[in-house]
Amino acid sequence: MIQNCPTGQFFLSVDGADCVPSPYLVWYRERIQKTLERIGRMDAFKALIPRDNFFAFEGGEGSGKTTQAKLLTQRLREKGYEVCNTHEPGGTLVGERIREVLLDPKLEREILPFTSACLFAAFRYQWVTEIVQPMLHNGNIVLTDRSFLATLVYQSLEGVKNEEFLHRLCVEAMGGIMPSTIFLLDISIDTMFKRLIATTRYDKKDRSYHEKVFESYRAFARKYPERIEFVDGEQPMGKLADYLYGAIKERIV
Ligand code: TMP
Repeated sequence: MIQNCPTGQFFLSVDGADCVPSPYLVWYRERIQKTLERIGRMDAFKALIPRDNFFAFEGGEGSGKTTQAKLLTQRLREKGYEVCNTHEPGGTLVGERIREVLLDPKLEREILPFTSACLFAAFRYQWVTEIVQPMLHNGNIVLTDRSFLATLVYQSLEGVKNEEFLHRLCVEAMGGIMPSTIFLLDISIDTMFKRLIATTRYDKKDRSYHEKVFESYRAFARKYPERIEFVDGEQPMGKLADYLYGAIKERIV
Protein backbone atom coordinates (compact mmCIF):
# COMPACT_ATOMS: atom_id res chain seq x y z
CA MET A 1 0.00 0.00 0.00
CA ILE A 2 1.38 3.43 -0.91
CA GLN A 3 0.97 5.99 1.81
CA ASN A 4 2.23 9.44 2.72
CA CYS A 5 4.73 9.37 5.57
CA PRO A 6 5.56 12.13 8.07
CA THR A 7 8.73 12.95 6.13
CA GLY A 8 6.55 13.97 3.19
CA GLN A 9 7.72 11.09 0.99
CA PHE A 10 5.59 8.37 -0.56
CA PHE A 11 6.38 5.04 1.01
CA LEU A 12 5.39 1.44 0.63
CA SER A 13 3.74 -0.03 3.67
CA VAL A 14 4.25 -3.80 3.80
CA ASP A 15 1.64 -5.68 5.83
CA GLY A 16 0.82 -2.34 7.38
CA ALA A 17 3.97 -2.69 9.51
CA ASP A 18 6.90 -1.40 7.52
CA CYS A 19 7.42 2.10 6.25
CA VAL A 20 10.36 2.21 3.88
CA PRO A 21 10.82 4.00 0.53
CA SER A 22 9.10 1.86 -2.08
CA PRO A 23 11.81 1.42 -4.73
CA TYR A 24 14.22 -0.05 -2.24
CA LEU A 25 12.43 -2.34 0.13
CA VAL A 26 11.56 -5.36 -1.98
CA TRP A 27 14.71 -5.23 -4.06
CA TYR A 28 17.06 -4.88 -1.09
CA ARG A 29 15.39 -7.59 0.95
CA GLU A 30 15.62 -10.00 -1.98
CA ARG A 31 19.28 -9.11 -2.51
CA ILE A 32 20.05 -9.66 1.18
CA GLN A 33 18.33 -13.03 1.15
CA LYS A 34 20.22 -14.15 -1.95
CA THR A 35 23.55 -12.98 -0.57
CA LEU A 36 22.95 -14.77 2.71
CA GLU A 37 22.06 -17.97 0.90
CA ARG A 38 25.29 -17.64 -1.09
CA ILE A 39 27.69 -16.85 1.75
CA GLY A 40 26.04 -19.24 4.19
CA ARG A 41 26.59 -17.08 7.24
CA MET A 42 25.86 -13.56 8.30
CA ASP A 43 28.42 -10.88 7.48
CA ALA A 44 27.08 -7.34 7.38
CA PHE A 45 29.80 -6.15 5.02
CA LYS A 46 28.82 -8.79 2.50
CA ALA A 47 25.06 -8.69 3.03
CA LEU A 48 24.58 -4.90 2.93
CA ILE A 49 24.63 -3.03 -0.35
CA PRO A 50 26.78 0.12 -0.54
CA ARG A 51 24.79 3.18 -1.59
CA ASP A 52 26.35 5.93 -3.68
CA ASN A 53 26.74 9.31 -1.98
CA PHE A 54 26.46 7.80 1.50
CA PHE A 55 29.66 8.28 3.53
CA ALA A 56 30.49 7.56 7.16
CA PHE A 57 33.17 8.79 9.53
CA GLU A 58 34.32 6.34 12.15
CA GLY A 59 36.96 5.97 14.84
CA GLY A 60 37.48 5.95 18.57
CA GLU A 61 36.61 8.93 20.75
CA GLY A 62 38.33 12.23 19.89
CA SER A 63 39.35 11.15 16.40
CA GLY A 64 37.82 14.24 14.77
CA LYS A 65 34.76 12.64 13.14
CA THR A 66 32.28 15.32 14.18
CA THR A 67 34.58 18.21 13.24
CA GLN A 68 35.44 16.74 9.85
CA ALA A 69 31.81 15.91 9.03
CA LYS A 70 30.88 19.55 9.79
CA LEU A 71 33.74 20.99 7.74
CA LEU A 72 32.92 18.78 4.79
CA THR A 73 29.22 19.56 4.94
CA GLN A 74 29.99 23.28 4.85
CA ARG A 75 32.47 22.92 1.99
CA LEU A 76 30.26 20.69 -0.13
CA ARG A 77 27.27 22.99 0.41
CA GLU A 78 29.37 25.98 -0.67
CA LYS A 79 30.06 24.08 -3.88
CA GLY A 80 26.32 23.66 -4.43
CA TYR A 81 25.76 20.10 -3.24
CA GLU A 82 22.72 19.15 -1.17
CA VAL A 83 24.20 17.58 1.95
CA CYS A 84 22.63 15.95 4.98
CA ASN A 85 24.98 15.78 7.98
CA THR A 86 23.69 13.30 10.52
CA HIS A 87 24.99 11.29 13.47
CA GLU A 88 24.55 7.98 15.26
CA PRO A 89 22.94 7.47 17.67
CA GLY A 90 20.39 10.23 17.29
CA GLY A 91 19.04 12.43 14.53
CA THR A 92 15.35 11.60 14.93
CA LEU A 93 12.98 12.43 17.77
CA VAL A 94 12.85 8.79 18.88
CA GLY A 95 16.57 8.32 18.24
CA GLU A 96 17.53 11.24 20.49
CA ARG A 97 15.45 9.74 23.32
CA ILE A 98 17.10 6.35 22.81
CA ARG A 99 20.49 8.13 22.80
CA GLU A 100 19.80 9.53 26.28
CA VAL A 101 19.36 6.02 27.65
CA LEU A 102 22.26 4.51 25.74
CA LEU A 103 24.90 7.04 26.73
CA ASP A 104 23.82 7.93 30.28
CA PRO A 105 26.81 7.31 32.66
CA LYS A 106 24.31 6.66 35.48
CA LEU A 107 23.10 3.56 33.61
CA GLU A 108 26.57 2.04 33.14
CA ARG A 109 25.93 -0.65 35.76
CA GLU A 110 22.26 -1.15 34.86
CA ILE A 111 22.17 -1.56 31.11
CA LEU A 112 22.91 -5.07 29.82
CA PRO A 113 25.04 -5.56 26.68
CA PHE A 114 22.19 -7.25 24.80
CA THR A 115 19.89 -4.35 25.71
CA SER A 116 22.26 -1.71 24.37
CA ALA A 117 22.82 -3.69 21.14
CA CYS A 118 19.05 -3.85 20.59
CA LEU A 119 18.61 -0.16 21.40
CA PHE A 120 21.32 0.83 18.92
CA ALA A 121 19.51 -1.26 16.30
CA ALA A 122 16.16 0.29 17.20
CA PHE A 123 17.49 3.82 16.89
CA ARG A 124 19.24 2.91 13.61
CA TYR A 125 16.10 1.51 11.98
CA GLN A 126 14.28 4.75 12.81
CA TRP A 127 17.21 6.83 11.53
CA VAL A 128 17.65 4.97 8.21
CA THR A 129 13.92 5.02 7.53
CA GLU A 130 13.25 8.62 8.51
CA ILE A 131 16.46 10.31 7.41
CA VAL A 132 18.97 8.33 5.37
CA GLN A 133 16.76 6.61 2.79
CA PRO A 134 14.63 9.67 1.96
CA MET A 135 17.71 11.92 1.72
CA LEU A 136 19.50 9.53 -0.64
CA HIS A 137 16.30 9.03 -2.58
CA ASN A 138 16.08 12.81 -3.09
CA GLY A 139 19.62 12.93 -4.43
CA ASN A 140 21.30 14.35 -1.32
CA ILE A 141 24.76 13.40 -0.15
CA VAL A 142 24.53 11.83 3.31
CA LEU A 143 27.46 12.20 5.71
CA THR A 144 27.19 10.35 8.98
CA ASP A 145 29.21 10.67 12.15
CA ARG A 146 29.44 6.93 13.09
CA SER A 147 27.73 3.96 11.50
CA PHE A 148 26.72 0.31 12.09
CA LEU A 149 30.45 -0.47 12.31
CA ALA A 150 30.39 1.10 15.79
CA THR A 151 27.92 -1.57 16.90
CA LEU A 152 30.22 -4.33 15.68
CA VAL A 153 33.12 -2.72 17.55
CA TYR A 154 31.57 -1.38 20.77
CA GLN A 155 28.78 -3.85 21.50
CA SER A 156 31.02 -6.89 21.05
CA LEU A 157 33.51 -5.31 23.47
CA GLU A 158 30.63 -4.50 25.78
CA GLY A 159 29.89 -8.21 26.00
CA VAL A 160 27.69 -9.40 23.13
CA LYS A 161 29.74 -12.41 22.12
CA ASN A 162 27.48 -13.62 19.33
CA GLU A 163 29.11 -11.90 16.37
CA GLU A 164 26.59 -13.25 13.91
CA PHE A 165 23.74 -11.82 15.97
CA LEU A 166 25.35 -8.36 15.89
CA HIS A 167 25.81 -8.55 12.11
CA ARG A 168 22.19 -9.63 11.70
CA LEU A 169 20.97 -6.75 13.88
CA CYS A 170 22.92 -4.27 11.75
CA VAL A 171 21.67 -5.74 8.48
CA GLU A 172 18.04 -5.67 9.58
CA ALA A 173 18.30 -2.17 11.03
CA MET A 174 20.09 -0.69 8.00
CA GLY A 175 17.26 -1.68 5.62
CA GLY A 176 19.79 -3.46 3.43
CA ILE A 177 22.08 -0.51 2.70
CA MET A 178 25.42 0.73 3.98
CA PRO A 179 27.73 3.69 3.31
CA SER A 180 29.77 3.33 0.13
CA THR A 181 32.88 4.35 2.08
CA ILE A 182 33.57 4.42 5.79
CA PHE A 183 36.50 6.72 6.59
CA LEU A 184 38.28 5.42 9.67
CA LEU A 185 40.03 8.35 11.37
CA ASP A 186 42.82 6.76 13.32
CA ILE A 187 44.70 8.48 16.16
CA SER A 188 46.92 7.29 19.00
CA ILE A 189 45.45 6.53 22.39
CA ASP A 190 47.54 9.36 23.90
CA THR A 191 46.07 11.87 21.45
CA MET A 192 42.63 10.57 22.33
CA PHE A 193 43.14 11.23 26.05
CA LYS A 194 44.49 14.73 25.30
CA ARG A 195 41.41 15.58 23.23
CA LEU A 196 38.69 13.79 25.18
CA ILE A 197 36.17 15.58 27.37
CA ALA A 198 34.41 12.56 28.82
CA THR A 199 30.64 12.90 28.98
CA THR A 200 29.09 9.57 27.90
CA ARG A 201 29.41 6.21 29.65
CA TYR A 202 31.62 5.04 26.76
CA ASP A 203 33.97 8.05 27.06
CA LYS A 204 34.42 7.29 30.74
CA LYS A 205 35.75 3.75 30.25
CA ASP A 206 39.39 2.98 31.02
CA ARG A 207 42.47 3.09 28.80
CA SER A 208 42.54 -0.63 28.04
CA TYR A 209 38.91 -0.49 26.84
CA HIS A 210 39.70 2.38 24.47
CA GLU A 211 42.81 0.56 23.23
CA LYS A 212 40.61 -2.41 22.37
CA VAL A 213 38.16 -0.11 20.53
CA PHE A 214 40.99 1.32 18.41
CA GLU A 215 42.39 -2.15 17.68
CA SER A 216 39.00 -3.52 16.73
CA TYR A 217 38.43 -0.64 14.26
CA ARG A 218 41.87 -1.27 12.73
CA ALA A 219 41.12 -4.99 12.39
CA PHE A 220 37.88 -4.23 10.52
CA ALA A 221 39.77 -1.82 8.23
CA ARG A 222 42.29 -4.57 7.44
CA LYS A 223 39.51 -7.06 6.80
CA TYR A 224 37.36 -4.83 4.56
CA PRO A 225 39.78 -2.47 2.76
CA GLU A 226 37.32 -1.99 -0.11
CA ARG A 227 34.72 -0.51 2.28
CA ILE A 228 36.81 1.09 5.04
CA GLU A 229 39.45 3.65 4.21
CA PHE A 230 42.11 4.06 6.88
CA VAL A 231 42.98 7.76 7.36
CA ASP A 232 45.66 9.31 9.57
CA GLY A 233 43.63 11.39 12.04
CA GLU A 234 46.75 12.91 13.59
CA GLN A 235 47.42 15.20 10.63
CA PRO A 236 46.52 18.90 10.96
CA MET A 237 42.78 19.55 10.83
CA GLY A 238 42.92 21.59 7.58
CA LYS A 239 45.09 19.04 5.79
CA LEU A 240 42.77 16.23 6.84
CA ALA A 241 39.73 18.23 5.71
CA ASP A 242 41.35 18.82 2.29
CA TYR A 243 42.13 15.14 1.94
CA LEU A 244 38.60 14.03 2.86
CA TYR A 245 37.03 16.63 0.59
CA GLY A 246 39.11 15.31 -2.34
CA ALA A 247 38.31 11.69 -1.48
CA ILE A 248 34.57 12.37 -1.32
CA LYS A 249 34.52 14.56 -4.44
CA GLU A 250 36.12 11.68 -6.34
CA ARG A 251 33.37 9.31 -5.21
CA ILE A 252 30.29 11.49 -5.62
CA VAL A 253 28.07 10.12 -8.34
P1 TMP B 1 29.37 10.21 20.26
O1 TMP B 1 28.11 10.80 19.77
O2 TMP B 1 30.15 11.06 21.18
O3 TMP B 1 30.20 9.58 19.18
O4 TMP B 1 28.94 9.04 21.25
C1 TMP B 1 28.36 7.91 20.83
C2 TMP B 1 28.91 6.77 21.66
O5 TMP B 1 28.12 5.63 21.44
C3 TMP B 1 30.35 6.40 21.31
O6 TMP B 1 31.13 6.37 22.45
C4 TMP B 1 30.27 5.03 20.74
C5 TMP B 1 28.92 4.51 21.16
N1 TMP B 1 28.28 3.75 20.13
C6 TMP B 1 28.11 2.39 20.32
O7 TMP B 1 28.50 1.85 21.34
N2 TMP B 1 27.47 1.67 19.34
C7 TMP B 1 27.00 2.23 18.19
O8 TMP B 1 26.43 1.54 17.33
C8 TMP B 1 27.18 3.66 18.01
C9 TMP B 1 26.68 4.31 16.78
C10 TMP B 1 27.82 4.36 19.01
